[in-house]
Amino acid sequence: MRELEYARPAARAAAHRSRPVIALEDVSKVYGQGEAEVRALDGVGLSIGRGEFVAIVGASGSGKSTMMNIIGCLDAPTGGKYLMDGIATGELDEFQLAQIRNRKIGFVFQSFNLIPRTRAVDNVAMPLAYRKVGRRERHALALEALDAVGLSARAGHLPSQLSGGQQQRVAIARALVGEPVLLLADEPTGALDTRSSHEILDLFDALHARGRTIVMITHEPEVAARAQRVVRMQDGRIVEDSAPSGGSA
Ligand SMILES: Nc1ncnc2c1ncn2[C@@H]1O[C@H](COP(=O)(O)OP(=O)(O)OP(=O)(O)O)[C@@H](O)[C@H]1O
Ligand SMILES: [Mg+2]
Repeated sequence: MRELEYARPAARAAAHRSRPVIALEDVSKVYGQGEAEVRALDGVGLSIGRGEFVAIVGASGSGKSTMMNIIGCLDAPTGGKYLMDGIATGELDEFQLAQIRNRKIGFVFQSFNLIPRTRAVDNVAMPLAYRKVGRRERHALALEALDAVGLSARAGHLPSQLSGGQQQRVAIARALVGEPVLLLADEPTGALDTRSSHEILDLFDALHARGRTIVMITHEPEVAARAQRVVRMQDGRIVEDSAPSGGSA
């Protein structure tokens, strides 16, 4: 990657566009030792390009959350290499990993994880506070993000005054407010009724159409069917990938 620093701007921009957002190279994660050893990930290779919408599926215990934690820089592999947007994460310290999480990844969880007794707009603005963005600009960007998920009319509402589907949309606005390179969702429809689930999936479709890179973990086949690419896990390995060449993006 070093020589890129000296490349002409146009060449550098092209290299930036074509490099994968996620590159897992022979990644393993082993928990425990000896008899208690669990190989949660066993030599996983996965490349996800810019603009892809990927669902990760598999039975309980197959390694989905373990892989999500590694992709989200919340946990480090015990073997192999993970490049996030071209950055070798194995060489980073805790502070640098926190910066990657804050700047490059937008997280969406099953349980929304909004801050209670805090208005929707302030929940959305939260990630920007860690980046020293001024108050006024934070507020403006948060309103824009709420608008993008169709919730500008609810900016002043508290989470308790919103439906589950609306709370998840606030969480998605919060994930997107910092313009991350990756939207990483863990069972984003797991706590929602059918109608709200469809709303959230329609929103993901729209975000994908606008060029967002989305990785979504899900148990539900109907949910996975909405993604452009499905990666299936079993016993810590990828056993099926509908775009094994590394994606169409
Ligand atoms: N902290 C841990 N210590 C020991 N073993 C663990 C730990 N976390 C996960 N495991 C084991 O690693 C394997 C993969 O777990 P993981 O949580 O990634 O599965 P999953 O696919 O997310 O399952 P689910 O669909 O139930 O969420 C399982 O056998 C699990 O018991
Ligand atoms: Mg899990």
